[in-house]
Amino acid sequence: MFCHLNYQVDKEYLRTYFYEHYEKGKWHRFNPPVLMWWKLFKYDHVVEKIMDDLGITDMNVKPRFSFQLPHTRLTEHLDYQRIVGINFNLEPETTPDLHIYGKDYPYEACLADVGSVEHSVEKVPYERLILKFAIRELWQDIFDVLESRGLIDVEKTKQVNPDYKNYRSVIKKKDEKYLRGNYLENQLLQYTK
Ligand SMILES: [Fe+2]
Repeated sequence: MFCHLNYQVDKEYLRTYFYEHYEKGKWHRFNPPVLMWWKLFKYDHVVEKIMDDLGITDMNVKPRFSFQLPHTRLTEHLDYQRIVGINFNLEPETTPDLHIYGKDYPYEACLADVGSVEHSVEKVPYERLILKFAIRELWQDIFDVLESRGLIDVEKTKQVNPDYKNYRSVIKKKDEKYLRGNYLENQLLQYTK
């Protein structure tokens, strides 16, 4: 459900691109409304080479820049439509993290089964800028292509998730409450676009 990757992106180039184009993005819509998470879509040409390197070009992928303000928290949830995420940190000096079932997973580059495992993003005093590939394909297919290209950081992954090779993507009964239509108060308002 979580693997470190050993692929590096050009952080400076991507960060600069984001700040030159961020006004074309939009806030994530929460219910009730909160302004804390800004996303920029539709710039796929900037990440073509990365997608090629990762082997995901022919998959159903929606890349986005994701900017989250300091001192904000994303409550426990599943990402919409069982997507699988590949995330890259674009900040030069700070490290983002995912909390999966309450356990902290800091990362520079990771593959995470965010559409199928409960996760949150906890408060930190700094902003987070991430390049995220939201992939609507099976976990196993994405894992296999990354592994075949030697992009899974085996040592680093084993330290946090020793049994990662045997992971199977299944939504647990207790997580069904996070599925669309079953959201609780202060939910993430999920939408397709
Ligand atoms: Fe998420």
